[in-house]
Amino acid sequence: MKCVRQKSINFHLATILFLCALTNKLCDGFLTDNFYSRPSLYLTVNPKNHQIDINWFNLPDTKILQSTILITTDSTNPLTNNYENVVYEFIVDRADGRQATNLTKNFTNTFDINTRCYDFWIFFIQNDQMKVQNCFQLHPTWMNDMKNILINRKVRDLFLPGTHDSASYKRGFDPTYMDNLITKYSLTQDDDIKSQLYHGIRYLDLRIGYYRSNDEKFWANHGITRIQPLSDVLKQVKDFVDATNEIVILDFQEFPVGFRNSFETHQQLVMYLFQELSNYAVDPAIGWDVTLGDIWYRGNRIIVAYDYHSIVQEHSTFLFPSVRQRWGKVKEGFASLEKFLKESRENMSRESQFFSRPYAEMAELTPEAIDVITNRYGGLRKMADSVNWHVTRMYHGEFGRRANIVAVDFYLATNIIEIAIEWNKRKFDNGENYGNIE
Ligand SMILES: *[C@@H]1O[C@H](CO)[C@@H](O)[C@H](O)[C@H]1NC(C)=O
Ligand SMILES: *[C@@H]1O[C@H](CO)[C@@H](O)[C@H](O)[C@H]1NC(C)=O
Ligand SMILES: *[C@@H]1O[C@H](CO)[C@@H](O)[C@H](O)[C@H]1NC(C)=O
Repeated sequence: MKCVRQKSINFHLATILFLCALTNKLCDGFLTDNFYSRPSLYLTVNPKNHQIDINWFNLPDTKILQSTILITTDSTNPLTNNYENVVYEFIVDRADGRQATNLTKNFTNTFDINTRCYDFWIFFIQNDQMKVQNCFQLHPTWMNDMKNILINRKVRDLFLPGTHDSASYKRGFDPTYMDNLITKYSLTQDDDIKSQLYHGIRYLDLRIGYYRSNDEKFWANHGITRIQPLSDVLKQVKDFVDATNEIVILDFQEFPVGFRNSFETHQQLVMYLFQELSNYAVDPAIGWDVTLGDIWYRGNRIIVAYDYHSIVQEHSTFLFPSVRQRWGKVKEGFASLEKFLKESRENMSRESQFFSRPYAEMAELTPEAIDVITNRYGGLRKMADSVNWHVTRMYHGEFGRRANIVAVDFYLATNIIEIAIEWNKRKFDNGENYGNIE
């Protein structure tokens, strides 16, 4: 065990060590003192070309010891089978980094409700010892798996992984030859809602367009571009909730086409949502103060949130007030995004530390209209590619401790799901309470 290697064991540390040994949990976190400086190794899908990237932080001693990262196509430790299953290999000489590979993501997977690895595994090998490993992983039941530690928590206490503009994907889309000026600025994800949920995403951000003369009247849009019929989006969420015991937030945030602030059109949308979701919708009677335990006890597990105050008031037995989204409208580089997210977090904890209404940090760059017209930044894929590694590292670190909902573009190019699950375990497990807002 790593615990034992620590050099200066004073009394305090010895106590922790004892507790560690007892619970067999969190040893690394306590003993290095910085949970957030723990090593991280993970695979991502590059949004620009769907190729697999290798990402890592805090790998120890890469300058001193012979260090290699390997990708394999099954879970067998490559050291035990002479590297037979290795499809990619390279030498690491830095603690933090990212490496493109020549492997490509296959988006035709079928999913089931088993937490499992698929397609590719990754290993960090140092001096012929396997030190860290990971894989592409499905987390279809992560909330229910932690039910005992989440039961008294509110949504506001959790770290929930989310997607920005969740329904802005096209199935079968290959960015290497299909991208045009419209898709460059309208698609924000590579996989559908079902796949997002099976991977572990639990917050969905939706923008709705109303098309009066169409058979399908309501669509999930990105801005003025209509992308997926709303009925298809809702069906995927319902199917997922039927198959699991997970809780999902559906947040209706913007209404970019066909609404023109018309109360009537909103009423129509709410009627439609009610017809589709009333048997699934969490009862908003006590609002965002509801605990996950209450939700599980009552059985309905889709939280339908809506960003229009008077509509929410009128339908107070069906709709939750929307999640507060923290929008930087930042377009240039990670540094400005980081500055915005940190500053708004500080501002918020001054304003509303006792509010139970959740907030979502929108951890992506957003171009302005003129940048879109001139294609100044080369599209959302390129923009996401420039920040997602850094966003992941930031939430892996101390900034993750007080995160609530984090919504990203092209989430398969981040490790946000694994990070959220780890932080929730860290915060609520072991009888400790790190969950309160300081
Ligand atoms: C990827 O590159 C390695 C060499 O590093 C080669 O052995 C392998 O065949 C390549 N795989 C593909 C799918 O092109
Ligand atoms: C992708 O996966 C599907 C289903 O497993 C398989 O039939 C197909 O051949 C794969 N495609 C590629 C390019 O590997
Ligand atoms: C934080 O609050 C300060 C002072 O009110 C304000 O100037 C600043 O714009 C706010 N920053 C963010 C990101 O909300």
